[in-house]
Amino acid sequence: MPETFKELLKGNQNWERNVLKMDPDFFEKLSTGQAPQFLWIGCSDSRVPATEITNAMPGSIFVQRNIANMVIHTDVNLLSVVFYAVKELKVKHIIVCGHYGCGGVKAAMSKKNYGFLNNWLRHIKDVYRLHQDELDAVEDETQRLDRYVELNIQEQVNNLSKVSFIQEEWEEGEFPYIHGWVYSLKDGLLKDLGVSTNNAEKLDQVFQYNART
Ligand code: CO
Repeated sequence: MPETFKELLKGNQNWERNVLKMDPDFFEKLSTGQAPQFLWIGCSDSRVPATEITNAMPGSIFVQRNIANMVIHTDVNLLSVVFYAVKELKVKHIIVCGHYGCGGVKAAMSKKNYGFLNNWLRHIKDVYRLHQDELDAVEDETQRLDRYVELNIQEQVNNLSKVSFIQEEWEEGEFPYIHGWVYSLKDGLLKDLGVSTNNAEKLDQVFQYNART
């Protein structure tokens, strides 16, 4: 058996030592519970780890990642994470973070047959259909992919806004805010897409739930 995986265990020991140097009580404090203020919905891509790129420590971000940072309303895994984050942890901000050059979005833009994966990619293709006129008009393929990535993030922010138990929270107060961010692999910087929301007012009527009585 190749032993490359042991690098990770060794890395863990080095990391633990460094953390204790900065804060000798760090693990003791964290072991009593978590109270993160943020939920991160990101891409599974190994180059976009939530805590590292935001310079945040364990304990600060509740995380869900999948191919192309999708919010699919039949995804029990994702919805359970969102439910726990919103209803129990009471996170104040949900960040949908995509990234330029996303392989999932690129695959969805092509006509290539990816076998089983097509079932996941279909949800991303639906985003293309919603914005077909705008995307078809972008001639440069890289620029079209960049824009597709941004529109996909925006649509996932919309999809979160359509979740009934998030709308319930908005009936009670201002939180959670939902944000759409995009990360550039080329320079390591995050950009806020300016699509933040904390209400359902801009959604089509059919997605706006009445308050539960
Ligand atoms: Co990706």
